[in-house]
Amino acid sequence: MKGFLPFALLFFSLAASAGDKAETVSIETAGSQMVLYVHPDGEVSFFHYGARFDDPEQVIGYKSYRRWDYGTEPPAYPARGGRHFNQSALAVKYHTGDINTELTYAGHTVSALSDDITRTVLSLRDSKTGIGVELYYDAYYDEDVIVSHAEITNGGNRPVRLESYYSSGIVLDASEYLLTHFYGAWAREMQLESELLTHGIKSIRSIKGVRTTHTENPSFMLSLNTETFSEEYGEVIAGALVWSGNYSIDFQVDETNRLSVISGVCPDGAAYSLDKGKTLHTPDMIYTYSCRGAGQASRNLHSWARKYCLYDPSSVAPSLLNNWEGTYFDFNEDILKGIIDNAASMGLEMFVLDDGWFGGKDYPRNDSDQGLGDWQVDPVKLPNGVGVIADYAHSKGLKFGIWIEPEMVSPESHLAKDHPDWIVKEDGREVTTIRRQWLLDLCNPEVQDFVFGVFDSTMQLADGIDYIKWDCNRHVESAGSAYLKDNSGFWFDYTQGLYSVYRRIREKYPDVIIQSCASGGGRMDYGALRYCNEAWTSDNTEALTRVFIQYGTNLIYPAVVCGSHVSAVPNHQTGNITPLKFRFDVACSGRLGMELQPSDMTDEEKDFARKAIGSYKQYRDLVYYGDLYRMGNPYKDDCYALMYVSEDKSRAVFFAYTIKYMGRTQRPLFRLTGLDPEKKYRISELNVGKSCFWGNGRTFTGSYLASHGLNLNMEKVYSSAVFYIEAEQ
Ligand code: DGJ
Repeated sequence: MKGFLPFALLFFSLAASAGDKAETVSIETAGSQMVLYVHPDGEVSFFHYGARFDDPEQVIGYKSYRRWDYGTEPPAYPARGGRHFNQSALAVKYHTGDINTELTYAGHTVSALSDDITRTVLSLRDSKTGIGVELYYDAYYDEDVIVSHAEITNGGNRPVRLESYYSSGIVLDASEYLLTHFYGAWAREMQLESELLTHGIKSIRSIKGVRTTHTENPSFMLSLNTETFSEEYGEVIAGALVWSGNYSIDFQVDETNRLSVISGVCPDGAAYSLDKGKTLHTPDMIYTYSCRGAGQASRNLHSWARKYCLYDPSSVAPSLLNNWEGTYFDFNEDILKGIIDNAASMGLEMFVLDDGWFGGKDYPRNDSDQGLGDWQVDPVKLPNGVGVIADYAHSKGLKFGIWIEPEMVSPESHLAKDHPDWIVKEDGREVTTIRRQWLLDLCNPEVQDFVFGVFDSTMQLADGIDYIKWDCNRHVESAGSAYLKDNSGFWFDYTQGLYSVYRRIREKYPDVIIQSCASGGGRMDYGALRYCNEAWTSDNTEALTRVFIQYGTNLIYPAVVCGSHVSAVPNHQTGNITPLKFRFDVACSGRLGMELQPSDMTDEEKDFARKAIGSYKQYRDLVYYGDLYRMGNPYKDDCYALMYVSEDKSRAVFFAYTIKYMGRTQRPLFRLTGLDPEKKYRISELNVGKSCFWGNGRTFTGSYLASHGLNLNMEKVYSSAVFYIEAEQ
């Protein structure tokens, strides 16, 4: 659309026809096209998503040579009923007992939202029941991203029950579908798994309610017509759901060998009652198409997210020291001041006070057994309050951040005793604890007020709170809300309740930096990132496993949202011992922090930390806003590298890690494909006396670096290198 549509000029509505001739609806970006086909009888099928073929009219009269009366043409938004027999995006039950919905074309509109964004809204109606669906497709031209969701309206005169209400569906036609998705667990998030889809249905989903992204992430990559996951080659479609609650992404290869993908809120136990005249807005589903492998798909998602989705990516958490692994619950004013002194002397820019500062005098938070919900300062650990710690940090030139977990309550707390009706539970069933805590019922507006109040009052604890780490350390069990009439609405309403609190917070505190944490990376999704500036990538701070966690995370989410901290050895999670340089070089490829007791470091280690933090400040804008190029893959290569390149290709920073011993005769060679082949670049290794590159300090053409590459002397396991790359003027 770009180039043809001046901003806000175009808005047209096509008559609700279901007329006698076929037509097409084409949704286009610079390098991709999605085409829907409106049949003369009003059915709308999904025709194409992939590379552009431009004029959509050429497909009018298309014949699939399959029998139409066998229902083999895939609907744009598959509803249960009529001829449709695959997995349904929409399943409605009516008061008459009717379980069918037959959606037909009722018109579409196209409007330019900006020079870059074109919105297409396709309207579908079931003429018998009055159910209406508006399918939104926002095409982001430059980023090759299409964002889609459904709005379902009950136009009938009785309430209906939505048994499924997915956001969106696409249909692909390829010889092979290689699905790459992200499984994991606590301290092992975003692990890659690739599998060739076979006939049948494969779902990735979470029914944990909150903390939904530890064990699967609501995102995927599909490599088409290949059995190989490739960084640089081939067609890839990537998707991510903008939602922090239960989700399901279902992949069905059917008898026609086509693949239908439907994505949205997980229907399991979540039927939603929709009153007459009401509309349900489903979450956004993001798609991108790349004909240059997974690398380009990631870059599309990252640049779209930075421009249109993330909460203020220009405001990034400064380099910080978080006291969690350094002290756990065992601290006092002097210990914290000592940490702040050390953090300041190493050049860090913020101190974050983690769990353990609250609970008041009755339920002091000395371990994870009590105190959640009682957000008064612990008078024993911090007799002078939190304000003195914040003031001390400020006096040393540091910003100040603090931890909260406002959705939770410990059984041992005043809150639990005062408000038993605020706890997620079902009468007559045991209220299970996880980490000795219960979940508060965010479906209830009073609880939403309370959670907002926790944030608000924490912000008043000191002058100048710059950062809030919002944690969430359990998931839902025995779902039940004393507030709701029908608990099957719990899952959807909880997440909406969370978003409504986030919105209130953002109205009052637009500038505070918020980290989305849920036992590490349990809330790493684009839904939370619309309100939170960053996420805590994982509680696993060990550098070797972090290479894998960050690799997986950055396939979908940009580095600017990935908190990445240097911690002590032996590592508290894995027991592994890695050199300090390796730990820094891994952490510096995200938003850098430290998470240890700095008084345990030697002077030599502190000197190295000072140097690494100093050089990070010179290039971190590239990590936050540059284009990511991965060289190889840690799952198959002994040495893995990545590079962030500025938009104008004048600067780059390159990181390499040896993660397996490769033998005496092999050395890594990296082709730096993201640079400008015409430019000459000076290559400078950072933070070392002796470089691992024979040409360190010299200049090389972009074409040499891309076609021959950078060969490095990185034989030993845990060797690592950071190079700053700058074009000569
Ligand atoms: C889980 C988080 O992921 C950790 O970083 C830490 O904040 C603890 N909770 C505190 O209880």
